[in-house]
Amino acid sequence: MAKTSFSCSACGASFSKWSGRCEGCGEWNTISEDKGLSSGPSKKSLGIKRGRTIELTDLSTRETPPPRSLCGVGELDRVLGGGLVAASAILVGGDPGIGKSTLLLQAAARFAQNGVKTVYVSGEEASAQVRMRAQRLGLADAPVQLAAETNLRDILTTLEAEKPQLAIIDSIQTMWADHVDSAPGSVSQVRAAAHELTTFAKRHGISIIMVGHVTKEGQIAGPRVVEHMVDTVLYFEGERGHQFRILRAVKNRFGPADEIGVFEMTGGGLSEVVNPSALFLSERGEPSPGSVVFAGIEGTRPVLVEMQALIAPSPHSQPRRAVVGWDSSRLAMILAVLEARCGIPFAGLDVYLNVAGGMKISEPAADLAVAAALLSAREDVALPADTAVFGEISLSGALRPAPQTENRLKEAQKLGFTAAIAPSGGKSIAVTGLNLRHTTDLAGFVGEFFGAG
Ligand code: TYD
Ligand code: MG
Repeated sequence: MAKTSFSCSACGASFSKWSGRCEGCGEWNTISEDKGLSSGPSKKSLGIKRGRTIELTDLSTRETPPPRSLCGVGELDRVLGGGLVAASAILVGGDPGIGKSTLLLQAAARFAQNGVKTVYVSGEEASAQVRMRAQRLGLADAPVQLAAETNLRDILTTLEAEKPQLAIIDSIQTMWADHVDSAPGSVSQVRAAAHELTTFAKRHGISIIMVGHVTKEGQIAGPRVVEHMVDTVLYFEGERGHQFRILRAVKNRFGPADEIGVFEMTGGGLSEVVNPSALFLSERGEPSPGSVVFAGIEGTRPVLVEMQALIAPSPHSQPRRAVVGWDSSRLAMILAVLEARCGIPFAGLDVYLNVAGGMKISEPAADLAVAAALLSAREDVALPADTAVFGEISLSGALRPAPQTENRLKEAQKLGFTAAIAPSGGKSIAVTGLNLRHTTDLAGFVGEFFGAG
């Protein structure tokens, strides 16, 4: 009798029995029965039969860097680590409707126009629909070869015959590998299809970009299973109501992770945003309480964003803490440090924190800007105009210098800022035209700018 097995759609862990919560990653309702997937490696000992001897090399062997091709969409090329690496497997994940197909069709067209032989396989839309989209984007003349297909075996056979340099598979959830007998979109299908495509890319020297939908509920097999297999994972993010889209490298074997590319969704598709700081700050008006500009670093690039805080007396016994674009436990920590080290309580107050423009910030260097926004909102005092803030806060209330201080200051100066507040320490850096005000701890900062603490 075949043994049933279960696996988690979020992390891919497998189990012999069903449960409501995955022990591997802690997600709820992600465990479902595997159908038709061969069970893991045989339990037989590997020691019984001798394998072949593998060749060992030393670390000094000179490797030539892998060849890369540029598509000419600068934001995408940079996020890839300087262009597309030959024979690499890339996953582009994101919420449905965020613009993945648009981005990849535009990228496909640019690659093709630059002489990279490109095939675009859509499993979601008919060829006519893709052609209509291409027309709308003004790309109808690009020499991209198009197919609407979901049968993976047929797709791979075709790619083997056509030998393109790049194949785009939109999306991995619609692919159907016929040696696995479960429905497209199930964990086993997604895993099998991604595995086939990744090994095919390596064996045939064809770069493959796969699209993966991520749903908030994690109901459909999440592409997180796939993330371990591929070389590069990019996330396409943004708020539905906003026109900004951010392409973020979360894993990259061929370049820095955390690199971002910024785009704007327009009627004619995605356009590159070459100066994101200017865009993120464009909606900022007069200096107002609760608004502070953070000089951040995203990947290799400095980016200025506005942190907005709102504080109001809470009608609830448990005051609200709502955060968009930042880490909520980090906010709790900053509130605790402000209370314990500076004697500024937030009990009985609702706290809202928002990163403007739909950006997501994960740098600890944003701590001081967040604290400044919270204080400014609470005391109803605006920081001096044209002042950028950054620095990490430790639990003791001490401030730690942030990496790449000079790049942050230069970007602020370039955007017309006249002052910056940053932790002292590290080597002293002067940027002409920018008044740098050093602080050593949070209590001193509070005293100097908000007359309290
Ligand atoms: P799409 O690329 O289909 O998203 P995904 O593949 O991630 O599901 O894009 C969906 C949205 O983008 C759709 O709601 C319409 C919008 N859009 C524009 O605003 N301008 C355009 O030029 C295009 C092609 C799409
Ligand atoms: Mg799509």
